[in-house]
Amino acid sequence: MDIIFETMQGLEDVAAEEVDALVGVLPHAVASGRLVAAVPSAAPLLEPLGAGVRCSDRFGVLLADTGAATLADAKEVAAGIRVERFLSSEQSFGVRYTRRGEHDFNRQDLGAAVGAGILQRFRERGGPVPAVDLDTADVIVRAELFDTQLLLWVDAVGDRDLSYRPYREYAHMASMRPMAANLLLRLAGWRRDTDLSGWQLIDPFCGSATILIEAMSIAATAERSPDAGHLAHGVERFPGHVHGAVGNIGRAGMTNHVVVHSGLAEETHELLPARVDGDERDRLVVTNPPFGRRVASPRQVDAIYRGAAESWARADVRRVVTLAERAASMTESLTAAGFEITRASEAIYGATPITVFVAER
Ligand SMILES: C[S@@+](CC[C@H](N)C(=O)[O-])C[C@H]1O[C@@H](n2cnc3c(N)ncnc32)[C@H](O)[C@@H]1O
Repeated sequence: MDIIFETMQGLEDVAAEEVDALVGVLPHAVASGRLVAAVPSAAPLLEPLGAGVRCSDRFGVLLADTGAATLADAKEVAAGIRVERFLSSEQSFGVRYTRRGEHDFNRQDLGAAVGAGILQRFRERGGPVPAVDLDTADVIVRAELFDTQLLLWVDAVGDRDLSYRPYREYAHMASMRPMAANLLLRLAGWRRDTDLSGWQLIDPFCGSATILIEAMSIAATAERSPDAGHLAHGVERFPGHVHGAVGNIGRAGMTNHVVVHSGLAEETHELLPARVDGDERDRLVVTNPPFGRRVASPRQVDAIYRGAAESWARADVRRVVTLAERAASMTESLTAAGFEITRASEAIYGATPITVFVAER
C-alpha cells in the first residue's frame, strides 16, 4: 500500500526526512510536491502521522499514479480503481481537484470526470451507489493532474489541512503556512529529536510570528529544549503586525517563550538584548522576508536584505534559513555579510517561484 504526502514543491527531501523520523519509512518524490511511501499496511501509521506530521499539509492512501491525457482517460482510471476498499455505498464522497500544465479542460471538469468514474464503478458492480456530497463528504478523493500524470488518492486528513492552527486569529496578509515554517525550521536543524539548548532563534521579519510559535511548540516537546527562560526573538516593522503577533503568541500559550521587538530587521543586532555572561548559545535566523510585492519595491527590498544580513553578521548569527523571490539579491546580501550559502533550492511558495537558502558563518 502507498501513502502519499502533499508538501511544498522544492523541499520534498525535508518533508521525506520528517516522515522517516516519525514512522521509519523514507518516501520518495513521485511529482513536484508529492511524496509516496510504500508500506505493508497504512492503517497503523495514520494516527502517528496525523499527530506528528508538520512538514506536509496532508496525506492519504494512493489509489492510482498513471498517465491520463483526456477527461475520458481520467474517468476510465477512476472506474478501474478499487475505491470500494475506502468508500462504501452508504457513505458520501466528494472529489477535490488540482491541475498543473496545459489542458483543454478546467480542474472542475477533472473532478467531475473522476466522480463519474467512481459512480460508474459502483453501478457496474451492482447495488447502491454512494452519494456525492461536495461540501461535507464522508470520504474525500483527490484527483491531481500534473501535465499527463494523474494521481488519485483518498485523503486521510480532510478539508481542514494540517496547517490549521486555532492561534492564527490575526490573519497577516502575507502570513506563512505553518507547514512552510516547519520545513524552514527543519532545514535549520530545529527538530524535536536534536539538542536545541545551544541555539537562540530569531525571526527578524516575523509578521504574525508563525515561525516563532511553530519553533517554540517544537521546542516544547524536544528531547533537550532551550533552557527555562529561553526566549525566541522576533522583529517586525509595523506596529499593527506586532500587535497581531502578540495576540497569536498569547493564544498559542507562548507568551513566556517568544518576544517581539518593534523595529527594523536592519537593526537586529541593536534590538536583541545583550548577551549575559555564560550565554554561549549560537544564534539562528529563520525568516520569511518581504518579497517586494506589497510593502516595498524590488529596489527597496535589495537594500533591506543587504542591511538585514549585515545586521545578522553583527549580531554574530551562525546560521540563516530564509527564502526569497529575488534570489540574486539575497545571495549577494548574505555573501557580502560573510555568510557561506550551503543550500539554495528552487521551490514554489504559494504560486511564486522562490529560492530557499541555508547559509552559515
Ligand atoms: C512575508 S511577511 C512575514 C510573515 C510571517 N512569516 C507570518 O507568518 O506572519 C514579512 C514581514 O516583514 C515585515 N517587514 C518588512 N520590512 C521590514 C523591515 N525592514 N524590518 C522588519 N520587518 C519588516 C513586514 O511588515 C511583514 O510583516
